[in-house]
Amino acid sequence: METLDRIMRQVKANTKHSTSRNSKADYNCTKCRDTTWIETENGMRRCSCYEKSISFRRWERFGVNPQKVKSIKSYQDYNEVTKKAKSLAINYIQNFQAIKHEEENGLAFLGQPGSGKSHLVIGIGANFIKGVICPNVIYMPYLEAMKELKCAQFESDEYFRLLNKYTKADLLIIDDLFKDKVKNRELRENAELTEADTRCILPIINQRYINNKPTIYSSECTPNMLLDIDEALAGRILERSNVVVFKYGLENNYRMRKFK
Ligand SMILES: Nc1ncnc2c1ncn2[C@@H]1O[C@H](COP(=O)(O)OP(=O)(O)OP(=O)(O)O)[C@@H](O)[C@H]1O
Ligand SMILES: [Mg+2]
Ligand SMILES: [Zn+2]
Repeated sequence: METLDRIMRQVKANTKHSTSRNSKADYNCTKCRDTTWIETENGMRRCSCYEKSISFRRWERFGVNPQKVKSIKSYQDYNEVTKKAKSLAINYIQNFQAIKHEEENGLAFLGQPGSGKSHLVIGIGANFIKGVICPNVIYMPYLEAMKELKCAQFESDEYFRLLNKYTKADLLIIDDLFKDKVKNRELRENAELTEADTRCILPIINQRYINNKPTIYSSECTPNMLLDIDEALAGRILERSNVVVFKYGLENNYRMRKFK
């Protein structure tokens, strides 16, 4: 109760000040004047900027500021596969409210390093958060997130908190899936799932599959490489995703395009 009283006082104080000292431009959110609470006839409710601010903080923890990432517009479509990738990304953003209910409600950008897979998946996510199409978009850079999960796997509270965050997200973006299993465009020896993978990444992908939650993947693995790692898991990813495969080769490496 004390907390609620404090919030009420803050909201009221901010509203009063708005006409004198603070102008509208001083607030990131003019609806709640940065208190994240709005007073309605039925009491206090959270402002729409609340979930957005949590998502922003989560992205920033992994070093990505959604305000500063490259846009989908700046992705150049210079051949068939980049044309397909860009149009799928744009379609996904524009039609997400319908797509999310379909069975094939995910995207997978696979293959050649430097082909702009991360550019696209991050660009889509940033678009969602900024536009509030779907504020609870979680960015999961695979290696960093797995490290965190593996460290937490024996502390059950933290482990379940992290698993929950990834399984419950309205949209999950897994960037660079199985990066640790690829070297020089090939699967490393013993690239099958480890016990830690089974405890950390498998339950996330499985739960999302069962609950038909949309997931976007980027990975250096091709569909065949995913199948070689684990057939059942690959099946789930490929079945639910609209897949773009950037074939291995210089023609799909944007960083190296001047040498092709
Ligand atoms: N078609 C494109 N148009 C504009 N910029 C691009 C394009 N493709 C890639 N880039 C740029 O090239 C760089 C490498 O792209 P990115 O990191 O997205 O590749 P990636 O496919 O994720 O590679 P990796 O498999 O190594 O993670 C980025 O700066 C990205 O913005
Ligand atoms: Mg990448
Ligand atoms: Zn607000």
